[in-house]
Amino acid sequence: MILKGTFLHAPTLGELEIRPNAYLVTKNTAVVGLYDTLPPEYEGQPVTDWGDALIIPAFTDLHIHAPQIINRGIGYDKELLPWLETYTFPAEARFADPAFADRAWKAFLNHLWAVGTLRFSAFATIHKEAAWRLMELTEQSGLRGLIGKVNMDRNSPDSLREDTHASLADTEELICRSREELRHTRFILTPRFVPSTTPELMDGLGQLGEKYDLPIQSHLSENPSEVAWVAQLHPDIPTYTQVYEHFGLLRQDKTIMAHAIHLSDGEKDLLKNKGVMLAHCALSNTNLSSGIMPLRQDLGLGLRCCVASDVAGGHTASMARSVAATVQTSKLNGLNHPDQSPLSLAEAFYLATRGAGSFFGDVGAFLPGFEFDALVLRPSTLDALVERTPFERLEQFLYDGDDRNIAARYCAGSLVEQPFPELELA
Ligand code: GUN
Ligand code: FE
Repeated sequence: MILKGTFLHAPTLGELEIRPNAYLVTKNTAVVGLYDTLPPEYEGQPVTDWGDALIIPAFTDLHIHAPQIINRGIGYDKELLPWLETYTFPAEARFADPAFADRAWKAFLNHLWAVGTLRFSAFATIHKEAAWRLMELTEQSGLRGLIGKVNMDRNSPDSLREDTHASLADTEELICRSREELRHTRFILTPRFVPSTTPELMDGLGQLGEKYDLPIQSHLSENPSEVAWVAQLHPDIPTYTQVYEHFGLLRQDKTIMAHAIHLSDGEKDLLKNKGVMLAHCALSNTNLSSGIMPLRQDLGLGLRCCVASDVAGGHTASMARSVAATVQTSKLNGLNHPDQSPLSLAEAFYLATRGAGSFFGDVGAFLPGFEFDALVLRPSTLDALVERTPFERLEQFLYDGDDRNIAARYCAGSLVEQPFPELELA
């Protein structure tokens, strides 16, 4: 495939490469190269000319709760723990109904497609049938997903509390079934967080992680009351991060921990050594008054970080808006901590594309050998009134977040159409 347009990507933190009127050549799923003039060996081959469109890497969202898509924007009068009890658990309990789950998952996948999130790591719910259905539909969608059945066997309402052994058995069944039946959609172990998983369950999940060499996702140190509760539940383990380590749940370079706001220096050392990906969720942290992750400091320490939406703690699945919120939040943090400079938009954009994409391998930039994931952006009539540089167009798209500017989407080298057109988007 050969595409022509103005390409903009962030190959490293803080760097933007802008290539006006360039040619991008792909082979199978991956980028071959980006050229100012088409190399002679490709002459005469068909070119998809996107004209003056801006072509950027598609987004990867490494922390999103698929069932909570129905709740986005609701219930931000409470902090994390009462928010879970009051709004989130009742919403997730609805996914015991397979017909409801089917409709909601299709709408979820349509929605991610619309906002330009073409790869993701999602929490499903505790329900085996619903989690499997999300895996199957993701496989059909053309998007690339890691999906986890959530594990919860303590401190949960009756409707969302599992028997420990059943939780492990259901998890193992989905691991095996997805390996046999699916090509692109993979299972990710998903203990909700320490307060909702007993030591026995965490231990069993750690063993499944080893047995099947699986990635893991969970929550870490989001809210002060949560951190205090974990200390009470595990008085013999010094820190929240070490609880996960103790049960084998910090798998080397294969773990995503969301939030990671209230951490000691020792915890940061451990997270760095384990290559844990910290998913920074600026919208959620603001909506639930959780705190501000010291992203500049963490990046300086060499921690792996990305930008994620955390729907429905985050009120929108738009990664564009999460990128802008990351910059905004880091500016507020900088007011209280003048030693921590705010992130630039280019840095936050990197964290939502190449930074997050690295969890999937060579994903998130237009470099040779990288999977070709892209969004084609066309200015609206309003934005076309004034001539803009490619960077200004990126700025306006990220801050405004209007997905109607996305004219086409490519994932792993293929054009992706709306996955479930029988459900209307609007
Ligand atoms: N901690 C445990 N569960 C959740 C959840 O669903 N959302 C967020 N933001 N934090 C959590
Ligand atoms: Fe979350």
